[in-house]
Amino acid sequence: MAKSLLFDLIVGARPNFVKVAPIFHAKRDYSFNSFRLRLVHTGQHYDYEMSKAFFDDLEIPEPDVYLEVGSGSHGFQMGKIMIEYEKLLLEDPPDLVIVFGDVNSTIATAMVATKLRLPVAHVEAGLRSFDWSMPEEINRILTDRISRYLFTTEKSGNENLLREGIEKERIHFVGNLMIDSLKMALPNTEKTGILKKLGLREGDFALLTLHRPSNVDRPENLREIVLAVKEVSRNLPVVFPVHPRTKKRLKEFGLYESLDSGIVKVEPLPYTSFLALEKNASFVLTDSGGIQEETTYLGVPCLTLRPNTERPVTVEMGTNRVIGNSREKVVKESLRILGGDRKKGKIPPLWDGKASIRILDILSKYPPEGKG
Ligand code: UD1
Repeated sequence: MAKSLLFDLIVGARPNFVKVAPIFHAKRDYSFNSFRLRLVHTGQHYDYEMSKAFFDDLEIPEPDVYLEVGSGSHGFQMGKIMIEYEKLLLEDPPDLVIVFGDVNSTIATAMVATKLRLPVAHVEAGLRSFDWSMPEEINRILTDRISRYLFTTEKSGNENLLREGIEKERIHFVGNLMIDSLKMALPNTEKTGILKKLGLREGDFALLTLHRPSNVDRPENLREIVLAVKEVSRNLPVVFPVHPRTKKRLKEFGLYESLDSGIVKVEPLPYTSFLALEKNASFVLTDSGGIQEETTYLGVPCLTLRPNTERPVTVEMGTNRVIGNSREKVVKESLRILGGDRKKGKIPPLWDGKASIRILDILSKYPPEGKG
């Protein structure tokens, strides 16, 4: 019997964990047996709430390899990932490396693999904010440029890649792994009891998440958002699971204690509990990428506190409004929703919970005939 191929799956940060889970489940449920998976966790996120809680909740197997790189400046963090992952590749190379999204772990491992002439498959390819001040934009563009397989979630991804001169044979429109996970977890949201635990009523609270450097690293921007949220919280409770980076900044800038009564601060939540909040919120305020997509799927209005989005389908078809981070605008748009002007959306094409099957179907034909 021919030896089965080995595919590495790289995860490092919270959104990666959500995207990797359906790959494991699809492999098991649809008997993709021509390859084995090796799960490599870089350690970019390491707190229990940011990492292990997601593995448990999403039933992801223990990582086969843990690189333990931790936090640091971008150069430091990526350098450490590259050094550690290269050691693994030299000792025990896989046949193909699968990377997800746009975090530092994505580009660092894709780069090392490519230099060793190992093919890379990039899941969530082609998204562009056209904003080079975002570290993720740099990560996205560079990862796409060097990847052999480009799996896109929305049509804009295909258009961007083609415009950048990437051969169409490399591009595969497969849908959205984030939605695979969401559909799987949705039936379990009630069991979390999170609304009761936090004393909330269905449809009667707003949900806030913040972690972009452009929003949280500059005191003037973070203060502006905090003031806006305080104003919104006079109308309804605002639940705020606080990302570690944001907590650090809020404390540093003396803003943490000012988030008082109407704002329910909690630690980062496990996936299913967060989903329960997202589904039942009146609306969501966020600077995350994935949450723009989840709210579109759930039909919950989303206000994106950024000047742009790399996920335009959530605005064109979904419930998303991209509003920036000025106090005035955040308050105005929140009140607009509370006044009944709620954006209704449709679910984008191929966001049907089957992206993982499409991806594995394509990769199970690796190496393409005549090659390898
Ligand atoms: C990273 C990604 C971002 C993604 C986000 C999801 C990059 C460039 N950014 O941002 O695209 O949306 O993950 O959360 O890859 N920290 C902890 N515990 C942890 C992890 C981080 O305390 O488990 C703190 C550290 O102080 C660290 C800071 O958070 O310096 C930032 O962490 P890092 O992973 O570098 O970036 P994120 O802001 O999480």
